[in-house]
Amino acid sequence: MNYTKEKADLFIRQNKALLRDDYRLRFHLMSEYGWMNDPNGFIYYKGKYHLFYQHYPYRPYWGPMHWGHAVSRDLVAWEYLPVALAPDRDYDSDGCFSGSAVERDGKLALLYTGHIVTGPDNKNDYMQSQCLALSDDGVHFEKFAGNPVIPVSQIPEGASLKDFRDPKVFERNGCYYTVIGSNDGKERGIVLLYRSTDLKQWDFVNIIAQGDSRLGANWECPDLFPLEDQDVLIISPERMPAQGNDYHNGNSTVYMLGRLDTEEGKFRYDSYEPVDCGFDFYAPQTCEDSTGRRIIVGWMENWTTEIPTQQDHHWAGAMTLPREVVVAGDKLHFLPIEEIKRYRQSPYEVTDVELDGERMLECSGDCYELEAVFEALDAEEFGLLLRKHGQEETVVAYRPSEQLVRFNRDRSGIGPQGERRTNVALQNGRLALRIFVDRSSVEVFVQEGEKVMTGRIYPGAQSVGIGVFARGMCRLVSLRKWDIRV
Ligand code: FRU
Repeated sequence: MNYTKEKADLFIRQNKALLRDDYRLRFHLMSEYGWMNDPNGFIYYKGKYHLFYQHYPYRPYWGPMHWGHAVSRDLVAWEYLPVALAPDRDYDSDGCFSGSAVERDGKLALLYTGHIVTGPDNKNDYMQSQCLALSDDGVHFEKFAGNPVIPVSQIPEGASLKDFRDPKVFERNGCYYTVIGSNDGKERGIVLLYRSTDLKQWDFVNIIAQGDSRLGANWECPDLFPLEDQDVLIISPERMPAQGNDYHNGNSTVYMLGRLDTEEGKFRYDSYEPVDCGFDFYAPQTCEDSTGRRIIVGWMENWTTEIPTQQDHHWAGAMTLPREVVVAGDKLHFLPIEEIKRYRQSPYEVTDVELDGERMLECSGDCYELEAVFEALDAEEFGLLLRKHGQEETVVAYRPSEQLVRFNRDRSGIGPQGERRTNVALQNGRLALRIFVDRSSVEVFVQEGEKVMTGRIYPGAQSVGIGVFARGMCRLVSLRKWDIRV
């Protein structure tokens, strides 16, 4: 098939009515139709947030990648724009893979990976190069005639000649830089750095970071940005082994706080941490907005888990709620963006409940925000039961003796099951949870964003109950709930 943007837009328009609404999200970005993976080109440009995404419009499965495109004034309500890129050139004919955006002289520039299959085995026979597309209006994009701007011939020794993708561009000291994900050919991830003055001509600087076997076999979607007086490097390692409670999803996302030396071309860091401790979070991208906030959005899926909406629903994939990234000591915290509060409706509140056993609340829903503060007292375990009806429930629980939060979706409905765990300490004997439930998603912010756990769930429509429980005595200091209506 010869793909074009026009064909993609027409197909979406003609087929959109087939979408099944059952699990469609209300305050998260999904593809308008078909498949979505990584966030791309996330930027605040001329008064709006632009979020592009890896997109195959024709089926709810990954295929030759296009770039879908949506804009928002507040990161909550999104409007779809025409497909921005289609795989329509010899250098990107098998996919316009992930990349990023930067504003230059008022134009919106996209730097992305052109993917081409070079042999019969499309999992192994491929080549990737970096390409440029430009727009005057932020809607219509023209690919640069001199593409690729970073061809395969500019891959340095010591880097894979195949895996060379996901450029994230940024400005520093009057130059453009881009980080690119790769591996060293021996199953260790690396990040490459290139420099340019015009986005068209690029020079290799260095391999700025290199992993070991703990950090997976290949690094995808690097992001590098300053925050307060440090730099943050985020990578999404493929095939990352589990370590304790962390990294149980096969492909994970980690951050490192450190410092980039652009002259020497080195990023120095001491340790790494997971960005999200749940089931479904990958390949995030950040942008800085006009207020100076650093905002991160992740793909709220995982390459290895089943996605029930691929059967008959005609769509698959969603983005997380955008989160603000803040420094807290030697860690990062992730907070839901403030703007979501504008969409709170129908408040419900209970305070000061002594709890031992299970109790259903007099509120319900499938699209809401919930804020709960528990005082542990002598309970063995306490927590929340979400999307509950009969046997169906999603559990968010805390065990004081182990300082352990667990997010269990074994009985959440159809689709993937399992449990993810993370350690968080009580603060003055208390646990604060802020949870966003949006039809087929749950995002749990623990202790003011110290940890975040994200997961997709697929409950029945009647599963809207909200319960609290404790084994042993605890106190529910307060619980507030709002419907979120966009
Ligand atoms: C990450 C990723 C990227 C690639 C894109 C292809 O999820 O594998 O490395 O550019 O998806 O869709």
